[in-house]
Amino acid sequence: MRAARTQADTLFVDGEVVDGAGGAARAAAVGVRGDRIVYVGDRDGCTAANVISVSGAAICPGFIDVHTHDDQLLFDDPTVTPKLSQGVTTVIVGNCGVSLAPLISNGNIPGPLTEIGKPDDFRFAHFGAFLDALDAGRPAINAACFVGHTTLRVAHVKDLSGPATPSELAAMREACREALASGAIGVSSGLFYPPAQGAPPSEVIALVELVGAAGGIYAAHIRDESDHIIDALNEAIDIATAGQVPLIISHHKLAGAANFGRSKETLAHIACAATHHPIGFDVYPYAASSTMLNKASWRAAVRTLVTWSAPHPQMAGLDLSEAAARLGVCEEAALDRLSPGGGVYFMMDERDVRAILASPAAMIGSDGVPGSFRPHPRLWGTFPRVLGHYVRDVGLFSFEEAVRRMTALPAAQFHLADRGVIVPGAFADLTIVDREIITDRATFEHPTLPSVGVKQVWVNGELVWMDGHPTASRPGRVLRRRRTAASSSIH
Ligand code: ZN
Ligand code: CU
Repeated sequence: MRAARTQADTLFVDGEVVDGAGGAARAAAVGVRGDRIVYVGDRDGCTAANVISVSGAAICPGFIDVHTHDDQLLFDDPTVTPKLSQGVTTVIVGNCGVSLAPLISNGNIPGPLTEIGKPDDFRFAHFGAFLDALDAGRPAINAACFVGHTTLRVAHVKDLSGPATPSELAAMREACREALASGAIGVSSGLFYPPAQGAPPSEVIALVELVGAAGGIYAAHIRDESDHIIDALNEAIDIATAGQVPLIISHHKLAGAANFGRSKETLAHIACAATHHPIGFDVYPYAASSTMLNKASWRAAVRTLVTWSAPHPQMAGLDLSEAAARLGVCEEAALDRLSPGGGVYFMMDERDVRAILASPAAMIGSDGVPGSFRPHPRLWGTFPRVLGHYVRDVGLFSFEEAVRRMTALPAAQFHLADRGVIVPGAFADLTIVDREIITDRATFEHPTLPSVGVKQVWVNGELVWMDGHPTASRPGRVLRRRRTAASSSIH
């Protein structure tokens, strides 16, 4: 007797399943009912009203962009086109210490908060209000949100050059508690940046110990990614250890020619520390960084591009050297004249980028900055660049392994329940990719060209992207940290 066939709404046939867990691609049909995957197997074992032939394409779990600054983009462009076009179905926002909430702007916000929104965008007194507004905005993709240490500092600390006073720290802790109770997944910090440089480790520990108690995560843009990187890594590891919270090191890189080749040392250092404390890290696949205009990054770079400038918007897109010549000043003085603004800094060694990417522990995070006039191409190209350039063309690691770093690995490290894998019962976040075609097209000259090769994207069981265009569906969810007696996970 034949076993009863599974009933699905949609059945994908003629494709290869790449399960996200690292298993070899295999021919199989995938059935979806409601918002979940209900079937993976021979096409005969499942019936569906809607049968879709994906003719040889790879059916992957939707990609998880673990490092983004899409907080305001989710409101401005609920389709989240830069990400959806890459096959990203979940973004983690609020990184580098910078979150949109909780902060009411007084009309003036310091960098790097300027990288994620205009002063008026900082409009939420409470983190819960931000999450509710995000839900009401009905984005096409899912989002999970950090609360930023720098945002809390800007909201509560009078003198940003030094540590928070005891009463200021109490206010930051109270706001952090509210954020965690509302569903924030943890705290991020960016001790590299001016408004946070004055914070001693004890100030961050006072926040992350709340995160540890709540079962959340701590993500760190460390104080120094250049000559003093080992000290900076140790500071982040010490903070996480003291707070008893898993650590994610953001956009791991080595800046400045003097540090080229040191990924060997840093990766070994992280791997060693990870034997006694949970540590993960992410990386973007480019040898240039991007952030607010600042002298430390400029000093480490061989070339700097201006991505935006509030006082001189017409200079966006120029080499800093050219902008300086037009202003009639040296590059260092030009940085002052162009600020607030953003830049792209060519400051890394391709060999380090490849060594970090090739580490089995590396997750992929775009770190794109959406508001720039001329953004770093990582905003539009990160995931296809890994799958096309580094996997298919360079052969750095296998397609299945790349997909694992974009799906099951981040789902596990960020405690995202039932995402990042293709198994019955998981959410139907699916990205269907032509492995031969997938390619990033965004360049430093043309940074907003969409990638090619992502055929379809499904989020929570609904089709959101098809053949280069979004559909009208916006089924994304705000994923909130929820605590039960036994565990804490993100739903
Ligand atoms: Zn950062
Ligand atoms: Cu970042």
